[in-house]
Amino acid sequence: MDSIGSLGLQQREGAPSSPQEGLPCPSNSSELVQECLQQFKVTGAQLQQIQTSLLDSMEQALKGQASPAPAVRMLPTYVGSTPHGTEQGDFVVLELGATGASLRVLWVTLTGIEGHKMEPRSQEFVIPEEVMLGPGQQLFDFAARCLSEFLDALPVGNQGLQLGFSFSFPCHQTGLDKSTLISWTKGFRCSGVEGQDVVQLLRDAIQRQGTYSIDVVAVVNDTVGTMMGCEPGVGPCEVGLVVDTGTNACYMEEARHVAVLDEDRGRVCISVEWGSFSDDGALGPVLTIFDHTLDHESLNLGAQRFEKMIGGLYLGELVRLVLAHLARCGVLFGGYLSPALLRQGGILLEHVAEMEDPSAGAARVHAILQDLGLNPRASDAEFVQQVCAAVCTRAAQLCAAALAAVLSRLQHSREQQTLQIAVATGGRVFERHPRFLSILKETVMLLAPECDVSFIPSVDGGGQGVAMVTAVAARLAAHRCLLEETLAPFRLTREQLAAVQAQMREAMAKGLQGEASSLRMLPTYVRATPDGSERGDFLALDLGGTNFRVLLVRVATGGVQITSQVYSIPECVAQGSGQQLFDHIVDCIVDFQQKQGLSGQSLPLGFTFSFPCRQLGLDQGILLNWTKGFNASDCEGQDVVCLLREAIRRRQAVELNVVAIVNDTVGTMMSCGYEDPHCEVGLIVGTGTNACYMEELRNVASVAGDSGHMCINMEWGAFGDDGSLSMLSTHFDASVDQASINPGKQRFEKMISGMYLGEIVRHTLLHLTSLGVLFRGQQTQRLQTRDIFKTKFLSEIESDSLALRQVRAILEDLGLSLTSDDALMVLEVCQAVSQRAARLCGAGVAAVVEKIRENRGLEELTVSVGVDGTLYKLHPHFSSLVAATVRELAPRCVVTFLQSEDGSGKGAALVTAVACRLAQMTCV
Ligand code: G6P
Ligand code: BGC
Ligand code: BGC
Repeated sequence: MDSIGSLGLQQREGAPSSPQEGLPCPSNSSELVQECLQQFKVTGAQLQQIQTSLLDSMEQALKGQASPAPAVRMLPTYVGSTPHGTEQGDFVVLELGATGASLRVLWVTLTGIEGHKMEPRSQEFVIPEEVMLGPGQQLFDFAARCLSEFLDALPVGNQGLQLGFSFSFPCHQTGLDKSTLISWTKGFRCSGVEGQDVVQLLRDAIQRQGTYSIDVVAVVNDTVGTMMGCEPGVGPCEVGLVVDTGTNACYMEEARHVAVLDEDRGRVCISVEWGSFSDDGALGPVLTIFDHTLDHESLNLGAQRFEKMIGGLYLGELVRLVLAHLARCGVLFGGYLSPALLRQGGILLEHVAEMEDPSAGAARVHAILQDLGLNPRASDAEFVQQVCAAVCTRAAQLCAAALAAVLSRLQHSREQQTLQIAVATGGRVFERHPRFLSILKETVMLLAPECDVSFIPSVDGGGQGVAMVTAVAARLAAHRCLLEETLAPFRLTREQLAAVQAQMREAMAKGLQGEASSLRMLPTYVRATPDGSERGDFLALDLGGTNFRVLLVRVATGGVQITSQVYSIPECVAQGSGQQLFDHIVDCIVDFQQKQGLSGQSLPLGFTFSFPCRQLGLDQGILLNWTKGFNASDCEGQDVVCLLREAIRRRQAVELNVVAIVNDTVGTMMSCGYEDPHCEVGLIVGTGTNACYMEELRNVASVAGDSGHMCINMEWGAFGDDGSLSMLSTHFDASVDQASINPGKQRFEKMISGMYLGEIVRHTLLHLTSLGVLFRGQQTQRLQTRDIFKTKFLSEIESDSLALRQVRAILEDLGLSLTSDDALMVLEVCQAVSQRAARLCGAGVAAVVEKIRENRGLEELTVSVGVDGTLYKLHPHFSSLVAATVRELAPRCVVTFLQSEDGSGKGAALVTAVACRLAQMTCV
């Protein structure tokens, strides 16, 4: 017989070895035995009360409400579905904690074919007492040594092995391979392990051992292994019940009922940890003096009170305490107490199970008692059998009450009148003690009559189930690796960003000098920011962002007042003929004038035109090329102001005085500059991206003059069009570029701006789907549709206040059906793509502010950047990441970012106002 539980109980120093030693002994021996047995009787009403109270405790724990009494824990495991039977591969399983002082290592092969099982190879090791009670590291080192010893006998070579760790103690799990021990139970009490991740401790020990390359992929409770290893019968097996050294159950709960999970779909396996149930009201009446003594002498005083009435570690001990009491009273063994009867752990579960077995017969009972150093009389055997039966019957009945609570919970959560369910059973109490299961069944039928339960014994102690979970975990880990590999090129290092900054500086210098460069560095003829003395009413147009606007801007002493209207530019107009586009613009102006009562007035007009233009003056701008999905014919190479004037002419009876054409970056800088004189940079991160800044005129080769400043429209969207960014470009960027209307152009913009980020994400998701990492590898028509994944989804999905389930709802709206793992991965893809965008943008801004600082020969520059654009404004983290990157790459510049409130139309009006003021001054 092996020594289940001989170490679970400890003689506490100074405590009497058996408090019941002092119990009075009635004179009649049969009366005394009956009295003892009576204490172990539990009535139907008491069982019902335990069932109800346990159910209540379960429901409170699910809701996340702490109960005043130590209650069941209801710990979510990361197991979300019962096995499909398709899992395959070779796995090593290490079992610790289920069966007394032993540790088991198994080699499990999953065939992936239902019904086709291969017998696992296994080896059991006895854990020395000093290891069970010593430092944690010693225990894990012992486990690692056992693993090596087991593997040494197998032809495994130095292949990488995947291990499933069955660790049967209450743990807070935070992942399939992350689990923090809450407290030791049963006979274990190693120091320094509670509060630690046991997977990490095992990994460290394996590493210290150093003989095999073993990855600990999953950690599970023994109940979960038992449930998962159960061959599916008529239906799936959704409850795992273990009565071994300790006791516990797990079952599949609706995820939406588990408050800590923030999940509204599917099921999750919950480890009930009912061993810690100890409601005084329900358990109090059934606790005997022997239970109190047992608890008093245990390693975990006051804890696991329910387990201590059921678990195999304790049944022998309870019998011993009763027999010792009866012997002490002279009722048994002629009053003689053998050393075994006096020693904790002197009677084991195996003794009890065998003596209680009705087929054992008196002779066998005699033999066992003699083995225990006793000299039983004829009548003793019968009494001893009765004691064993009473202790075990109570255990089975209490276990049934707990199981009935789980079944009621299942029935309730599934809203079913009758519940048909399979329960997988495992543990030595079931294996060694045939009556235990029959009493359990009988009692469950009485307590949960509406449940039709079939009990399925686990064949290999759950090893198969642990391997199943490990297989799933291994698949998920492999997916995570592929995800990381896919996203790695998006994660730019500081060195890469510094290189972008340096390249940008070089391209700026070349562009200013008129040398070949992907940065055009276009002079804007804006030489000064407003000084506040501008006055008058102005019209403004704002074309090129998400919205086309017409504005009336009143610049007065009290400030600027704006009235505006948004008009749509249908795609057929944006991509039709130039004449059509400009006629449409003029129609909108006329409509606006009529609505504002401005018809017939010829107000000065500023035109925000957010495309690259070579300007020869304030009111001359030759469109170099369209960007951002505009493609109206016959415009490139033309002066946009002329095109507008011609359209005005075609639409007779309208008079408009076009004074200035302004890029949106310039409009934004001017608009913010009206409030803050330090604002000398304009930045747009919206549909497209670009920046402008105040450059020293002497550095601008194409404009005469050596003093003063000029605002330069960098057109940084085209940065890298000479191939200089190819090192950073992923194949997703290449796909987005190829599918755009301007392949090879605006490469920097295509990595940063709103028009493209959604597409980059979509291409990345398509790739991950093709690898089988996402959406179970199923490609959907929806995801293959261009522009289906809008950039605004990135902003929504990445919002901190959103729970994962809301992320999933957003994606489901797109027609994607996905699991929570999918949702998490999509979120990570969005983050990687938007972070790269923000950091690249930050590197660009760093190049600009450093240039200004150096231009001025300053040790430190204080400067403000006026910013606009939907991505910058709506994304929850974009702006802070840009700022952080600038701080990192331009530490000598103190940069303040000002968000433009009124759009760049206001800035265009201000440029117009400045021009008018200067014109008036020249007239005077
Ligand atoms: C500003 C301007 C637009 C500009 C836009 C960029 O407010 O008024 O002309 O193009 O911001 O943002 P968007 O996200 O609309 O492209
Ligand atoms: C542990 C459980 C375990 C049970 C059966 C209890 O002591 O707390 O996690 O499932 O024993 O082994
Ligand atoms: C254009 C720039 C504009 C930017 C932001 C780019 O596509 O080329 O002129 O400033 O978008 O709207």
